[in-house]
Amino acid sequence: MTAPKFGDDEEKETDGKFIIIQKPPNAENLLKRPDEGLATIHCTKVVRNVNLEKLRHNYLFPEIEARELEHMKKYPDANIIRLGIGDTTEPIPDIITSNMAEYARGLSTRKGYKGYGAEQGNKDLRKSIAESFYKGLGVKDAEVFVSDGAQCDISRLQLLLGSNVSVAVQDPNFPAYMDSSVIIGQAGDFLDETLKYKNIEYMTCGPQNNFFPDLSITSRTDIIFFCSPNNPTGHAASREQLTRLVQFARKNGSIIVYDSAYSVYITDDSPRSIYEIPGARECAIEISSFSKIAGFTGVRLGWTVVPDELYYVNKVPVINDFDRIVCTCFNGASRIAQAGGLACLSPDGFKAVMSLVAYYMENAKILVDTFTSLGLVVYGGVNAPYVWVHFPGSRSWNVFSEILNKTHIITVPGSGFGPGGEGFIRVTAFSQREHILEASARLRRFL
Ligand SMILES: Cc1ncc(COP(=O)(O)O)c(C=O)c1O
Repeated sequence: MTAPKFGDDEEKETDGKFIIIQKPPNAENLLKRPDEGLATIHCTKVVRNVNLEKLRHNYLFPEIEARELEHMKKYPDANIIRLGIGDTTEPIPDIITSNMAEYARGLSTRKGYKGYGAEQGNKDLRKSIAESFYKGLGVKDAEVFVSDGAQCDISRLQLLLGSNVSVAVQDPNFPAYMDSSVIIGQAGDFLDETLKYKNIEYMTCGPQNNFFPDLSITSRTDIIFFCSPNNPTGHAASREQLTRLVQFARKNGSIIVYDSAYSVYITDDSPRSIYEIPGARECAIEISSFSKIAGFTGVRLGWTVVPDELYYVNKVPVINDFDRIVCTCFNGASRIAQAGGLACLSPDGFKAVMSLVAYYMENAKILVDTFTSLGLVVYGGVNAPYVWVHFPGSRSWNVFSEILNKTHIITVPGSGFGPGGEGFIRVTAFSQREHILEASARLRRFL
């Protein structure tokens, strides 16, 4: 059976194997500028959300897709290699999809049919997540909230926090924290001079500070978004760094929202969870995901841990409010996806998904070796499937364009993740091996 194709995707046969060449889905629309066609459209009298007015430009990846489309118009015969968006490419192991298929078939039977599930997630899955990822760390099953992905939970957490909290983000950062902060109303205007939003504390993380913010110059905020292993820099914070972060949050009475979506990619002894750090249960929420563990980017499954020792200033437990948000704004993850999650965490399922992780990390190694051999300084790629390449003195978008023009390879300009990413590009290891090898050959030939 071949995989279904969507939209403009093309199928190509190489060595008897089919590769789906994915075309960006909505790029045509994205090239439309907001004022196009206004003479002919009917406008309502509804005023646009002022917070959305504040959002700068397009979301990063649609902007890249639009530029890719322009490139395709210029070079219609180019074989573009996409090492931009961090989406998984390898098929989900059969042991996992069989479980989902069996569960789905059961839904067609009187005995197997089930409707809504618990909003917080399947009991067995919550237990399995607590045991698999937080063994010995004191995380209780009831503190695990199963979700339809970490990105969705970032938005639900913003709803929990509201517009009156102050926020700090790493710079560079995964755009969902910043954009959702703007949308909920935590940020001020975007300042063109600094390329930063007002009222947001940017914690610069670069080679100069070993990708960990200088906390002595970081202002106190209510919330600190922190991602490790980091997207985009690929840096996994050390135990010593995270200990300093937890102490800083405790001293300031802040809450850390810790994103561990890439924890299974850690190869050294860096902590895989913030709860490995003493005191974190009283100051940290952790969000995570099956997306990059098991290729579930399209299946959609994740989780959030809210410890019952985490309180607001008025002694109300945060977990109570998060439970309310989950029950009001989310009706539980798909039962089929949860059956897949349970299969991932079975001993054989976990072995199977970890072999996918190893595959992507081998890709990362090839990319690191390639850029290093070109004399470039490269970060990441050891504890994360992202390679962060430094082009000192160059603008990221210029490097992005130069690589695209010379090699037809899509990367991500580091500045798209915040001003601290200027001078870098991010290259993803989520790709088929043949594409990585071809990209490596082109980079060595043309850069
Ligand atoms: C750091 C980080 N967090 C969250 C997500 C989104 O995860 P999910 O697919 O579970 O929504 C991503 C996706 O790339 C990510 O890089």
